[in-house]
Amino acid sequence: MSDPDRRQFLEAVVWIGGGGVALALGLPGAAYLLTPVLREEERTWVDLGEVAALRAANAPLAVRFRYEGWRGYVRGSKPGLLWVVADASAPEGVVALSAVCTHKACNVAWSPEEELFACPCHSGRFDVGGAAVSGPPTAPLERVAVEVRDGHLFAELAESQA
Ligand code: FES
Repeated sequence: MSDPDRRQFLEAVVWIGGGGVALALGLPGAAYLLTPVLREEERTWVDLGEVAALRAANAPLAVRFRYEGWRGYVRGSKPGLLWVVADASAPEGVVALSAVCTHKACNVAWSPEEELFACPCHSGRFDVGGAAVSGPPTAPLERVAVEVRDGHLFAELAESQA
């Protein structure tokens, strides 16, 4: 092998070896960093309380609870919030709405004066059924599936809805 050939061969070995080392070190790091982004969203059932009391409410009720979920890389207990609205036409007599605004994900609150859900961030408004009525949001508040078990209302929650 001539000197130029040997030099090219050694350069190729260095580049290929260096690339292999970079991949060996980089792939696990990238996988670790991307884990929270790539993790499939879990759904979990949460107990929202006695359904009779929720059906009897004459205004939307903020129901707070804790559930098991992820904070980045750590799994643990997280606070959650849903709005429960009495609705005689709904199969369970109530609907559960995500409090997460569909614009930029601030939490909405019920405004008794306006009789609307109000978002504090950019003044979005949603009606009692969750439909967007003014401001930047165009999509309704998400409805969360519910069912009654032993007199309690349970909601099937995705983490993005709490
Ligand atoms: S986040 Fe609710 S209106 Fe922008």
